Amino acid sequence: MNPTRNDLPAATRTKMVDLLQESLVDALDLKLRIKNSHWNVKGPTFIALHELFDKVAADADSYADDLAERSVQLGGTPDGGAATVAKGSSLPAAKKAASESDHVQLVADALAAFGTRVRAAIDTAGELNDADSADLFTEISRGVDKWVWFVESHLQGKR
Ligand SMILES: [Fe+2]
Repeated sequence: MNPTRNDLPAATRTKMVDLLQESLVDALDLKLRIKNSHWNVKGPTFIALHELFDKVAADADSYADDLAERSVQLGGTPDGGAATVAKGSSLPAAKKAASESDHVQLVADALAAFGTRVRAAIDTAGELNDADSADLFTEISRGVDKWVWFVESHLQGKR
């Protein structure tokens, strides 16, 4: 851990840095997966999905940035390298996607899995009395919930 004037107890900061690293890796994996769908989706609603996925990926990138920077503030040294992401991501393995609906399901599943992790992280940060990290996780969770709604709406209401 790096020295800091941040007055949270060292034990709290150490645990939060680990949690933030796990979340960072998941956020980066999420972003890359959504970019894959942004590039590869094809079909009658191509432009809507292409543009929607790009917005979701941009937010995932922003979540990753906020998580990494929170880690540094607490004395951590975040690692967002490709090898670390490949080894450490907790998102379930991505399936092959061909149709628009496959891509929508992949993106919705990845978002939902990330959302589950982030919601649990809110509680962990709260238990460790790190209200600021809990607030960051809450903000991310709210964003992810919105994107799950946007994406999975494409799978609902079909006759
Ligand atoms: Fe693009």
